[in-house]
Amino acid sequence: MNVLKLEDFTTQEINEILDLAEEFKNGKKVDYQGKKIIANLFFEPSTRTHYSFDTAALRLGCRTQNFDAGNSSLKKGETLYDTVKTFEMFGVDALVIRHTENEYYKQLVNNIHIPILNAGDGTGNHPSQSLLDLLTIRQEFGKFQGLKAVIVGDIRHSRVAHTNFKIMQRLGMTVYTSGPLEYKEEGYNYVEFDDIIDKVDVVMLLRVQHERHEEEMKETKQQYHQQFGLSSSRVKGMKDQAIIMHPAPFNRNVEIADDVVECNKSRIFKQVQNGVYIRMALLHMVLGENV
Ligand code: NCD
Repeated sequence: MNVLKLEDFTTQEINEILDLAEEFKNGKKVDYQGKKIIANLFFEPSTRTHYSFDTAALRLGCRTQNFDAGNSSLKKGETLYDTVKTFEMFGVDALVIRHTENEYYKQLVNNIHIPILNAGDGTGNHPSQSLLDLLTIRQEFGKFQGLKAVIVGDIRHSRVAHTNFKIMQRLGMTVYTSGPLEYKEEGYNYVEFDDIIDKVDVVMLLRVQHERHEEEMKETKQQYHQQFGLSSSRVKGMKDQAIIMHPAPFNRNVEIADDVVECNKSRIFKQVQNGVYIRMALLHMVLGENV
């Protein structure tokens, strides 16, 4: 079983993953007793996703291998497929992969016979991130139906925006997007940030994905912050119960003001914590063993 994109899962299956993550949060114990090896293959930089998958595996009593892409035979011209096949032949039990190319997994799935967990493909999908976002929202509001969210920032280049926009709508939320017009995505319900901020339950901020741009951003950091950044005065305009989310890494005083990062509406570090429980649930699901 693979976890490549959320479209492959029914709404019921998604809720079951969230339930299992919640059980892990509440202390559920699973111990693979060092018998399973999880290989983390990150071909793009990562802190949270990489090391929370690693932490999740360790907490399940698995052992892990952390592939050092910068020091590997990729430098000698080896392909993604050949690298991944090599780890399969080592006998590892599951692969966690992040790669710059959209749908990189299509070239792998027919010939790789161990589970692949997609930790992000280019601007495409980021299923484990969306699941941890959903868990955070469900813990807060106890439901999805009827909630409103705005995702603000570089929508076009963000796999987090693409994945969340689709799954949140599927779960009955109304989703808006906002941010610089040059990063607007057609069909993604664009609105002016200041017109919507007082009406939504979730404000989800994004980092500008400079590494995916051919040109420099038009706005300076100060201009971005002024127009689209979540300042404490914008926070004051939010609904009482509304929350602030960000997949991180965040750029302080660009998309989010320094003093908003840990304010009482912010769930940013709670998202990080939930990421471990979600990844424990996903790993346990694909390893598929009753332990
Ligand atoms: C995001 C990613 O890599 O897609 N981060 C993450 O996984 N928590 C967002 C980003 O890099 O801006």
